[in-house]
Amino acid sequence: MVVASLRHICDRELTDDEEKKAIILGWCVEWLQAFFLVADDVMDESKTRRGQPCWYTKDGVGLEAVNDSFLIGVTTYRLLKKYFGEESYYVKILELFNEVSYQTAIGQTLDLMFSPHKDLDFTKFTLIRFKTIAKHKTAYYSFYLPVALAMHMAGVSDDKSHNIAKTILLAMGEFFQIQDDYLDCFGEPSITGKGGSDIEQSKCTWLIVQALDHVNDQQKDILKANYGKSDPVCVQKVKELYNELNLKELYHQYEESSYKQLMSLIENKVKETQLPPGMFQEFADKIYKRNK
Ligand code: IPE
Ligand code: MN
Ligand code: MN
Repeated sequence: MVVASLRHICDRELTDDEEKKAIILGWCVEWLQAFFLVADDVMDESKTRRGQPCWYTKDGVGLEAVNDSFLIGVTTYRLLKKYFGEESYYVKILELFNEVSYQTAIGQTLDLMFSPHKDLDFTKFTLIRFKTIAKHKTAYYSFYLPVALAMHMAGVSDDKSHNIAKTILLAMGEFFQIQDDYLDCFGEPSITGKGGSDIEQSKCTWLIVQALDHVNDQQKDILKANYGKSDPVCVQKVKELYNELNLKELYHQYEESSYKQLMSLIENKVKETQLPPGMFQEFADKIYKRNK
């Protein structure tokens, strides 16, 4: 995304040096994500990631994965110093990494705070809460960060451009998390590379929020009895109820309408900046209807 964004913003062939630098920034985003994911899998008790056992589950690793995640995290800043220490935009990108990491960690805090391991309280699973979690834990680092990095590289650092880009990219990120929640439950693990754990972990997902919005009292009791339990029979009961409530169909309808909304946001907002609408369009098209 960093390389693609830079190409869109510069609107010309990149020099070898520009391309190399954008690639390195892309890798820095990857290191930051790896740092968060190694820790996230410990916290979520996940089993697989990218088609392999999660790092903390490996023999001889266990909770040492916590320190490994720190190592990966700080490596990002060593790479930034090594390759960008002399650049005019160095402070901009440092501050950006710091700010985005803060937002992400806040998102993880909210995610954990609203997935209680006991005293499950469904009144806390609201759409606005889901959106706040999604925006912070996923949208900042996955969507705003790579584009904002390219913007700084290209010398686009004014608040107005960044705020407009952020509005669009955070909306895209929210939608991406809805897809992530859907795929956690209904995705194919051999394609997504990870086995779901949201139901077991009683996460405040888009699916549970929608389910609670559509259940009758009897169905709500089924959720109460089975959500947040690691027993596969309980997980299956929740999934059956999701199917009964036609959540798959609701998701596909939502996907259509949210894509249209995103397109009108791009159309209306981007023209207030010098940024190319095609950049936002390209990323929206890449994630729309994804299955991994
Ligand atoms: C975690 O969200 C996002 C971060 C790692 C910051 P999830 O917990 O939903 O991510 P997956 O589904 O494990 O990849
Ligand atoms: Mn997780
Ligand atoms: Mn997830």
